[in-house]
Amino acid sequence: MQMRSLGASRIEASVVGLGTWAIGGWMWGGTDDAESMVAIQTAIESGITLIDTAPAYGFGHAEEIVGRALAGRRDRVVLATKCGLVWHCRKGKLFFNSEEGSITQGEGKYQVHRYLGRDAIRYEVEQSLRRLKVDYIDLYQTHWQDVTTPIDETMDELLRLKQAGKIRAIGVSNATPAEMDQYRAVGQLDADQEKYSLLDRQPEAEQLPYVRKAGLAFLAYSPLAQGLLTGAIGPDRVFDKDDLRFTRSRFNVDNRRRVAQLLAAFRPVAEKHRISLGQLAIAWAFHQPGCTHALIGARNPKQAEENARAGAVVLDAADLAAMSRALTAWEGLQE
Ligand SMILES: NC(=O)c1ccc[n+]([C@@H]2O[C@H](COP(=O)([O-])OP(=O)(O)OC[C@H]3O[C@@H](n4cnc5c(N)ncnc54)[C@H](OP(=O)(O)O)[C@@H]3O)[C@@H](O)[C@H]2O)c1
Repeated sequence: MQMRSLGASRIEASVVGLGTWAIGGWMWGGTDDAESMVAIQTAIESGITLIDTAPAYGFGHAEEIVGRALAGRRDRVVLATKCGLVWHCRKGKLFFNSEEGSITQGEGKYQVHRYLGRDAIRYEVEQSLRRLKVDYIDLYQTHWQDVTTPIDETMDELLRLKQAGKIRAIGVSNATPAEMDQYRAVGQLDADQEKYSLLDRQPEAEQLPYVRKAGLAFLAYSPLAQGLLTGAIGPDRVFDKDDLRFTRSRFNVDNRRRVAQLLAAFRPVAEKHRISLGQLAIAWAFHQPGCTHALIGARNPKQAEENARAGAVVLDAADLAAMSRALTAWEGLQE
C-alpha cells in the first residue's frame, strides 16, 4: 500500500481510502450492517488506513457502523468525517428533503440544509464523536459549502476544534478555489475532496492545479463512478428503486454499453498488471497530477480487499498514455 500525507498535516494515509456512503444505506438501496462491519475490518486488514464517512450517510448510520467496526482498531486508521449538511435545524439553505430511503420531491422526514455556522459545527462534531465512539477526528471536512455563513466564521470554529484536540486537520469538499482561498486566509487547510474519475474529470480544470500549488491533499470521491468502471454493471443489472443508480441516466443500458467499450480498450493495461478493471480505474485516479488519494465505497469484504490491493499498483507513462488515447477515441456518455 502506498502512503501519502494529508497536506501539511504530517498525517500519512493510504492512497486508497474506504468510503462509507453506501454503508449508510440511504440512496444505495439499503445495506447489510453485518456485511458492512466486515467490509470495514477487511479494508483495514488489507492495508487501508484512510476511512471517510459523514453524518449524512444514512443520517448517522454510516458513522455508527464505522464506530462499531473500529472498536479496538482506532489507532490503525486515519478517520475522516464531515460537517455542514444538517437536519437538526433549518438554518442556511435547504439542500434536499429526504426519507430514510431516498430523496423526496416534497417534504420528507429530514430537511437537509447546507449550514456551516459556528453553532452547528459545535453541535455536529459532538454528534460525530459520539457515533464514531472516538475522542478525536483526524480529518474534519466541510461537506458542501454554505453561502449564508462567512467562511471566516466556519474556519475560526474549525481552528478552535483543532486547538481543543477534537480534530487534527481541516478539509473542504465540493469547494471552489476562491472558497479554498478564503479558508486558507484564516488558517491551515490540508485537503480538498471532489468527485473525480475517468468519467468525471472536471477537477482537472481548477481544483487539481490549485491543490498542487497550495500543497493540499486531494481526495477523489466516486473514482469507480459508483461501480460503472468495475465492469460489473452489465446490461442485466437491476437496481433497487431506492438506489440512486436506478434513475441516473449514466446508468441506462446504452451508457453501460458505452462504458463497456471504454473498458475493453483499457483491458490490455489491466492484463499487463494482472489487475481488475476496477483496480485500474482506482490506480489511474491516484496517478493523476495533484490527486493524492482515492476514496472507494465497498459494500462487502471481497470488494474492500480488491480495492485495497489497487493501492500497490504502479502505472508507468506508457500505461497512462494508452488510457489517455482510449479516452480520446471513446464516444463518451449520453447524459
Ligand atoms: N464529499 C462528497 O460530497 C462525496 C460524494 C460522494 C461520495 N463521497 C465519498 O467517496 C466515497 C466513494 O464514492 P461512492 O461510494 O459514491 O462511489 P464509488 O467508490 O465510485 O463506487 C462505490 C460502489 O461501487 C461498487 N463497487 C465497489 N468496489 C467494487 C468492486 N471491487 N467490484 C465491483 N463493484 C464494486 C459498490 O456498489 P455495488 O456493489 O452496489 O455495485 C460500491 O458501493 C463515498 O463512499 C464517500 O465516502 C463523498
